[in-house]
Amino acid sequence: LARGNAPADLAGRHVVVSAGGTREPIDPVRFIGNRSSGLQGYALARTALARGARVTLVAANVALPDPAGAQVVPVGTAEEMRKAVLEAAADADAVVMAAAVADFRPADYRTSKIKKSESGEPEPIELVRNPDILAELGQHRRPGQVIVGFAAETDDVLANGRDKLVRKKCDLLVVNQVGENLAFGRPDNAAVVLAADGATTEIPRGPKEDLADVVWDLVVARL
Ligand code: CTP
Ligand code: CA
Repeated sequence: LARGNAPADLAGRHVVVSAGGTREPIDPVRFIGNRSSGLQGYALARTALARGARVTLVAANVALPDPAGAQVVPVGTAEEMRKAVLEAAADADAVVMAAAVADFRPADYRTSKIKKSESGEPEPIELVRNPDILAELGQHRRPGQVIVGFAAETDDVLANGRDKLVRKKCDLLVVNQVGENLAFGRPDNAAVVLAADGATTEIPRGPKEDLADVVWDLVVARL
């Protein structure tokens, strides 16, 4: 879809997109993080803007230019992302969780840098679970609100995806197969979109913008 002649089918709509990957601090210089670049989330934000939406982009640890016209909310941790997403979702027509949210965080933050001289052997880092933002969105959705998740899977990709769609009560789940050189940090992506109504949409490998436009097509059909 060319940028100039995008349909204005999201005009008057507020959409929230999360992008990037959360970082959970261990001490002042270290964190638990992941390999999400934010490219897919930013492509979703740009295409939604081109289709006329008001866009809130909750961005975790990305090094990408702000899409012109988006309200960008920078966040660091999963807790910060949860707060920003739930606040923006209150009046949103659709929420797309493209961000990689760390499942766990260190149980306590060490205010001083951990030194290797302290004990000789490394201390284990105790982890606790982070809130599941997508599951909360699915649980507390406004009537008519469309909730979209992303899932990066290995192994039994589609069965895992179906499970996750049901468990998190979302309308659409975009399932990527991950592995060496697939998805992360690349400008292109391939996916299968699973819908709560049973529909399955295959998106062949192509630019992340094209994948984003298919996601918005599926969202618009459900608004
Ligand atoms: N997600 C979220 N909050 C979390 C973890 C994940 O909102 N704490 C969202 C992601 O943004 C994504 C979707 O849930 O849209 C699926 O993420 P994924 O990591 O695949 O799901 P998990 O439930 O964490 O399952 P897994 O054990 O496979 O990591
Ligand atoms: Ca996870």
